[in-house]
Amino acid sequence: MKAFNDLADFSSEEIAALLKLASRLDSAPEPAALRGKVLALLFLSPSLRTLASFQAAMTRLGGGAFVISPEMSIHGIETRPGIVMDGAAAEHIREAVPVIASYGDAIGIRAFAERKNLANDLAETEFKALTDLIDTPYINMESALNHPCQSLADWKTMNDLDIPAQGGKFVLSWAYHPKALPFAVPAATVHMAAMRGMDVTVLRPEGFALPDAVMEKAHAAAELSGGSVIETDDRVEAMEGAHVIYAKSWSSARHYGDRIADEKARSELYHWCVDDPWFDNARPDCRFMHCLPVRRGVVVSDKVLDGPRSVVIHEARNRMVVQMAILHQMMGAKA
Ligand code: CP
Repeated sequence: MKAFNDLADFSSEEIAALLKLASRLDSAPEPAALRGKVLALLFLSPSLRTLASFQAAMTRLGGGAFVISPEMSIHGIETRPGIVMDGAAAEHIREAVPVIASYGDAIGIRAFAERKNLANDLAETEFKALTDLIDTPYINMESALNHPCQSLADWKTMNDLDIPAQGGKFVLSWAYHPKALPFAVPAATVHMAAMRGMDVTVLRPEGFALPDAVMEKAHAAAELSGGSVIETDDRVEAMEGAHVIYAKSWSSARHYGDRIADEKARSELYHWCVDDPWFDNARPDCRFMHCLPVRRGVVVSDKVLDGPRSVVIHEARNRMVVQMAILHQMMGAKA
């Protein structure tokens, strides 16, 4: 495997094989599989789960990992292209990325969306500029429009819980958040659920439709898998018979890059906080999913998050488990 960048780059059989490997490595550990291998981890954006789970995954497979982020570099890392470097930073990302990659057998890169220009973020301009600098196998640890490791972990979580693929109803719901957040998780999630063959409803208020390119990709995946994708602003209709609600906030595509206009658009939407009444007409065993971190009392009530519907800790642990499988395949583990 040369890159783990997008679930869309894999067939459903390849995803099934990765998930099977993940379960095997979880139940039958291989503590020497990646002995002597090194994973480089470059974090240009913050993290808790991704930072910890990749290091834990490498350790469990007998390899090692090192982390670099701009705050850790005593030189300071400049990321802007074409800049005259007469400020604080003494090192440019164009040298830093290939140097870091050269120390590893694979590299994980996290670089969130710039959220200035929608076309650039939809085209993954910044992430591609980074991966174009290296020949080393790489893993997308969250870019402007994707979070494939999170999606693979979420797919596994639903398999673990016997949530049906064909005929399973998956609601991806916008939730209130004080900040305009990127499209990476919602874009990856709607595609993942459609690729899994589920009937997906994107529930969002007026003005917060996902970009056309994101929905078109999800529709194409559903066409292949036998699933479906619709969108609505009607919560009761969306939640009817739902197996899963996956909450996430995202920016208004209409006001992309305009913080003030986005804040105004969401200012009356505090009630988009997932709470018990949301489940009134869902299946009794409807699950609550979220990638974390999550703002309590803003995105979801304590009662739902701490209650039996919530599977957020299971999802987070599965990050480590599926990443073991990705690393095992990417680094050519010893038999
Ligand atoms: N879900 C996720 O990627 O978490 P972190 O941002 O903490 O890595």
